Amino acid sequence: MGALGVPVALWALAWSCVAELLLEPDQPFRVPDGWSHVERVPPGQTLELILALRQRGTDRLESLVRDVSDPKSPRYGRFLTLEQARELVQPAPQTQLAVRKWLLGHGVDECRSVATRDFLQCRMSVSTAERLLPGAEFHRYRRGPRSVLRSPRPYSVPRDVAPHLDFVGGLHRFPAERKVLSRAWATSGPPSGERAAFHLGVTPSIVRKRYNMTGEDIGQLANNSQACAQFLEQYFHQADVAEFMQLFGSSFGHRSSVDRVVGHQGRGKAGLEASLDVEYIMSTGANISTWVFSNAGRHESQEPFLAWLLVLSNTSALPWVHSVSYGDDEDSLSRSYLRRLNLEFMKAAARGLTILFASGDDGAGCRRDPGGNHTFRPSFPASSPYVTTVGGTSFRNPFLVTEEVTDYISGGGFSNVFSMPDYQVAAVQQFLRSSPKLPPSSYFNRSGRAYPDLAALSDNYWVVTNRLPLPWVSGTSASTPVVAGMVALVNDRRLRRGLPPLGFLNPALYGLPPRHRDALYDVTRGCHVSCLDGTVQGQGFCAGPAWDPVTGWGTPNFPRLLAALGPP
Ligand SMILES: *[C@@H]1O[C@H](CO)[C@@H](O)[C@H](O)[C@H]1NC(C)=O
Ligand SMILES: *[C@@H]1O[C@H](CO)[C@@H](O)[C@H](O)[C@H]1NC(C)=O
Ligand SMILES: *[C@@H]1O[C@H](CO)[C@@H](O)[C@H](O)[C@H]1NC(C)=O
Ligand SMILES: *[C@@H]1O[C@H](CO)[C@@H](O)[C@H](O)[C@H]1NC(C)=O
Ligand SMILES: *[C@@H]1O[C@H](CO)[C@@H](O)[C@H](O)[C@H]1NC(C)=O
Ligand SMILES: *[C@@H]1O[C@H](CO)[C@@H](O)[C@H](O)[C@H]1NC(C)=O
Repeated sequence: MGALGVPVALWALAWSCVAELLLEPDQPFRVPDGWSHVERVPPGQTLELILALRQRGTDRLESLVRDVSDPKSPRYGRFLTLEQARELVQPAPQTQLAVRKWLLGHGVDECRSVATRDFLQCRMSVSTAERLLPGAEFHRYRRGPRSVLRSPRPYSVPRDVAPHLDFVGGLHRFPAERKVLSRAWATSGPPSGERAAFHLGVTPSIVRKRYNMTGEDIGQLANNSQACAQFLEQYFHQADVAEFMQLFGSSFGHRSSVDRVVGHQGRGKAGLEASLDVEYIMSTGANISTWVFSNAGRHESQEPFLAWLLVLSNTSALPWVHSVSYGDDEDSLSRSYLRRLNLEFMKAAARGLTILFASGDDGAGCRRDPGGNHTFRPSFPASSPYVTTVGGTSFRNPFLVTEEVTDYISGGGFSNVFSMPDYQVAAVQQFLRSSPKLPPSSYFNRSGRAYPDLAALSDNYWVVTNRLPLPWVSGTSASTPVVAGMVALVNDRRLRRGLPPLGFLNPALYGLPPRHRDALYDVTRGCHVSCLDGTVQGQGFCAGPAWDPVTGWGTPNFPRLLAALGPP
């Protein structure tokens, strides 16, 4: 065998090198905790894959986003329509042709495209998918009632198709989990002597009081809207929203139901996360029409987060503001996937959408590198330079409306993939120069995009879920919709005056002139958590004056934010 075996193996290797290429060779396959392998999927089972076609015009997209988002640019606010975005990024005709020809060659003819023509969502049998993507082998994984089809082995595509694709979705990445935290242990009661002013947890009136919102600060415009996106079988119930507003909404004008659900709204129990998002975006963005994007596992082979991006690329009239509490470790995603999603956020920015992501609930995070040393662990999309990332704070005295300090869980840090965008260089350098307690430089990448951009309260919220009021709900999933609602209110005032909406917020936020710096309360106390080791001993970065990678620029002071970003 030996003498014959070697040349055969070499020939096979050479042949496969010529014919096919791995598309995401750096995409790890890791079955997350709680998921278990069930079986190899029978060949006749159908599945859906999402193909990300290589776009054109991405350099022009980047400079366009810079112009339309920078208040100092003459093109500020001159956003693209969905059709104009398509003209800019749609794949070249030879790309569309090469991909179609490849798919049709394998009998794949059930594909749906999007308005920007840069994604295809295709339905096929497992046996077809395994022939189309040599190497892939589909298995079923289960977690509780939910199952997904995934390939533990890498996939390839023909060498002549590879340059036309960024990635194929629905093979390796599992739906990311983001759970709100419950801190029931924190119930030690208010300090005696302060009973007159104490509160037992954060409610809409506490949020509105802290951020100086008055009864006048509610939406007026019928065609302004805001949205939150839910993934993973997370449903809200209209009855919970109504009850929440009845209990907590008496001091401000508001709506009591979600106006539009895009996608699939299951009948199951309400999720705490979904209830939280909806109830708080509707409390700061009060009386503004609210949409919920709900992509709860329509098809077990999809990546629900990608499915949401496809909806954005396929809908011309969208809410201007989107709050998303979702994230994954940056190092668990392939470079081509990260780059492409970053381009999708640029597409949204070019259209004037404001996309806010929660910064995560693990502080700086922690990861052991292959050599055994620890480093911090950034989270994505929080680490994208084209989204606005929201961290978390607590009241210094948890029972009083006092100044805010760092919530030790607040996600923050530096990307290892995306370099630091121009808009934040001065602010971040200032922090790096002046922070007295910087972690060792081997723990983070000081040339990367640094986050969060701003913050809000993330501790001890009241939420109504499944008709029950629940206290002590915490996490940046709470602060993100609070900020989103305020941005939607600023948009409301701008639109009423005939001004464009804010769009991608960061260039304006980092570029605020000194007289408008009080648009945010600077949070200067407290550190967030990180690696539990002998070097950093559980501590990540610490808040300080001006911007920091724990609370960003701080928390909104609504009337001043409106003065800074609203109509003159
Ligand atoms: C995008 O919208 C068009 C028109 O409504 C529809 O035909 C198509 O199926 C949609 N694409 C996806 C991926 O859902
Ligand atoms: C907002 O509230 C803070 C205290 O919560 C107060 O110091 C400040 O004067 C208020 N008004 C404005 C416009 O900042
Ligand atoms: C609430 O918004 C609607 C438009 O959507 C507006 O007509 C109404 O006046 C607003 N309510 C209050 C109390 O301002
Ligand atoms: C919102 O309504 C106003 C007044 O009816 C109108 O001028 C404006 O074009 C509308 N804006 C959008 C985005 O539909
Ligand atoms: C781990 O850290 C130590 C001390 O900083 C350093 O000397 C060593 O080279 C690092 N090891 C690896 C594999 O990076
Ligand atoms: C640090 O970040 C830059 C991007 O800003 C990246 O090119 C580089 O590879 C990163 N270094 C490490 C060690 O991850």
